Amino acid sequence: MDFSLTEEHLMIRQAARDFAQNDCKPGVIERDTHMQWPAEQVKKMGELGFLGMMVSPEYGGGGMDALSYVIAMEEISKVDSSCSVLMSVNNSLVCWGLEEFGTEEQKRKYLPALARGEKIGAFALSEPEAGSDATHQRTTAVDMGDHYLLNGTKNWITNGGCASVYLVFAQTHAEKRTKGINVLIVEKGMPGFVVGKKEDKLGIRASDTHTLLFSDVKVPKANRIGDDGFGFSFAMKTLSGGRMGIAAQALGIAAGAYELSVEYSKQRKTFGKEISHHQAIAFKLADMATEIEAARLLVYKAAVLKDQHKNYEVASATAKVFASEVAMRTTVEAVQIHGGYGYVKEYHVERLMRDAKITQIYEGTSEVQRIVISRSVLS
Ligand code: CAA
Repeated sequence: MDFSLTEEHLMIRQAARDFAQNDCKPGVIERDTHMQWPAEQVKKMGELGFLGMMVSPEYGGGGMDALSYVIAMEEISKVDSSCSVLMSVNNSLVCWGLEEFGTEEQKRKYLPALARGEKIGAFALSEPEAGSDATHQRTTAVDMGDHYLLNGTKNWITNGGCASVYLVFAQTHAEKRTKGINVLIVEKGMPGFVVGKKEDKLGIRASDTHTLLFSDVKVPKANRIGDDGFGFSFAMKTLSGGRMGIAAQALGIAAGAYELSVEYSKQRKTFGKEISHHQAIAFKLADMATEIEAARLLVYKAAVLKDQHKNYEVASATAKVFASEVAMRTTVEAVQIHGGYGYVKEYHVERLMRDAKITQIYEGTSEVQRIVISRSVLS
């Protein structure tokens, strides 16, 4: 498999790196501390084209490949995963799903504003009693002829407060189980739809995670994506791309912590020399570099398979499970290398360690990825 980057990939990497360093880094600690949503950064991401990277130009997007997307995700996640998770959900779960499976009318209505970041999208699948077990949706969408009546609660929804366009999953024909689930486009402001409490999280604290409540929300039938009962299949297909994006986020968190550790270890002196000259530290850096490179190859493999229109479901799950574990190991070691400095906010690595944990949980836990991988291995 050829992973050589084109001039365009290198330019995208540089643009994402510049954005992360110049626009995300200033204030990232304060935004994390105060759970302050990165309004200015999101606006700029929209202007730079990071929110609709893979959307076709005819719908206002950048028309880029998946490899460009994971490259940008890695760079932004090195510095600010609250920004990159918003970018991931908007690109992979919302825009990609709408473009791939939406009607022409839905695409024209929603994609241009989503791709430019004038509107933000959210993906509302998880429920209080349906996280990993996503087939057991309790939210209902009752068919009323020209519309659905939507009732239920969604939990831990990324972009829950800042979004205007929500892809909401609900059960229409309970007896048909996964074939009875629909996905509906719900807009903020529809009567009966309320954005509930904001979560106070361990990591990605500047991202905006909410409970959503639906009480007799009338959703026009024209807002259903795909045929009746397509919702679960839609969720699984979009999540394959989502998992690749989160794998790139985990890679970026690990690479960010590693880069800070290399820099610090060349400056900090103990026992008369830079700590990088102590084998105890040099070997940690060698292990980090090795694991990060392996994670990067898995992430690129999933992206290249997607670009080649091949099945990338297992490759995405493999990349996510490995990269998220690398993110955890690397960030814990980065704190260790920084010693006491690593335990305080100013040096960034404690935040990266907190941010790393969510990559093992959202868009399918590590256990869910292993279900996907083991089924493929055993089939
Ligand atoms: N494409 C199409 N259909 C698929 C599919 C795919 N990729 N994967 C499964 N299906 C179908 C199966 O064929 C099966 O169909 P039948 O009923 O006809 O046999 C049906 O879906 C159910 O599949 P399974 O029997 O495999 O279902 P399961 O209950 O054993 O669980 C699972 C499968 C992989 C664990 C799945 O439920 C899953 O992925 N769960 C995790 C959900 C998740 O990732 N949530 C994240 C929330 S979104 C988020 O985090 C975004 C954010 O805010 C950051």
